[in-house]
Amino acid sequence: MNATAPASAAITEQIDERDRGGKRQPMLIADKLKKYFPIRSGVLQRQVGEVKAVDEVSFAVLKGETLGIVGESGCGKSTLARLLMHLIPKDSGDLIFDGDPVGGVRGITLRELRRNMQMVFQDSYSSLNPRLPVQDSIAYGPRVHGMDYKDARKLAADLLDKVGLRAAMFGARYPHELSGGQKQRVNIARALALNPRMLILDEAVSALDKSVEAQVLNLLAHLKREFNLTYLFISHDLNVVQYISDRVLVMYLGQVVEIGPVDDIYNAPRHPYSRALLESRLSMDPAQRVIEPPISGDPPNPINPPSGCRFRTRCAFAEDICASSTPLLGAVSTQNHFVACHMASAGSGHSKAGLAH
Ligand SMILES: Nc1ncnc2c1ncn2[C@@H]1O[C@H](COP(=O)(O)OP(=O)(O)OP(=O)(O)O)[C@@H](O)[C@H]1O
Ligand code: SF4
Ligand SMILES: [Mg+2]
Repeated sequence: MNATAPASAAITEQIDERDRGGKRQPMLIADKLKKYFPIRSGVLQRQVGEVKAVDEVSFAVLKGETLGIVGESGCGKSTLARLLMHLIPKDSGDLIFDGDPVGGVRGITLRELRRNMQMVFQDSYSSLNPRLPVQDSIAYGPRVHGMDYKDARKLAADLLDKVGLRAAMFGARYPHELSGGQKQRVNIARALALNPRMLILDEAVSALDKSVEAQVLNLLAHLKREFNLTYLFISHDLNVVQYISDRVLVMYLGQVVEIGPVDDIYNAPRHPYSRALLESRLSMDPAQRVIEPPISGDPPNPINPPSGCRFRTRCAFAEDICASSTPLLGAVSTQNHFVACHMASAGSGHSKAGLAH
């Protein structure tokens, strides 16, 4: 598979002096990232199993694009985000930021990575220090990185203005004095304070009312252009992901099952799971709402996932080959569209292999 290959259409034309790898070098490449969480039990806390939260996940995020990540609750989206940020240690796999391996002697340091890549979480309140006025929370990162107090305060005020909160009015307020939308704007300002190149947004608008959510999404789109940012956007809301993304990655039980341009994924999904997921979303048009969700049953236990294709226990097309062999991500007819299903792979042994389905 070559799901990490650049999609030229999404490559940004803006020139960024921080660019090290060139315009065609993906901003971030994840190569076979793996994270199993040990499960312990008993007085001696012996390991009795492991949750296969992220299992050999590979993909690239292109410069200037928004890559959306979707999948059911528990499929590993947040674990993947935390692995990318190095908030938790990986079991194996590699991460390459703008052409430089992360960690090790020849790559970029973790400190540099964290300056270049920032994260915004869903829970806007717990992300902010309740004892600090929001202007100090925003100034904290630059201060730690050596900026003097006056400049850091000035930067915080500028950023508050950029995210639509007048610094003179909001800067001295504490988090409990702000609404959810305002707190999330502060979190975005804080994430921008170190002049990052990429933001990982993990359900960053999910807790907001629909009208506030729309405002924050517009703000994110505006900031992306102004600061020449790249986004990884994780959300359970498929409509929001469609609105904001250039490409979409679909995860199932710790693995990538499909990745491609947003229009291909939404108009012609190739993986049975992607199709079921998209058909089950609430349409904005009440006349198109589905009565019965087309995907049945809970996802299998990630401690002991099914052999072969992990979706086979819920897939209407499952055959023997699906239990005995793991489908790999392979290109489908459209450029930059990849799917991991035996039906999409000619010669796989599946009776529908190579047929349009
Ligand atoms: N620290 C941990 N220890 C053990 N298991 C964990 C830990 N963190 C996550 N998991 C498990 O890993 C799997 C993936 O969790 P994760 O939070 O990444 O899912 P998610 O896709 O972000 O879900 P959601 O949409 O609900 O946020 C789940 O089965 C979860 O229970
Ligand atoms: S590989 Fe088999 S079980 Fe998996 S999605 Fe394709 S047809 Fe269904
Ligand atoms: Mg999550």
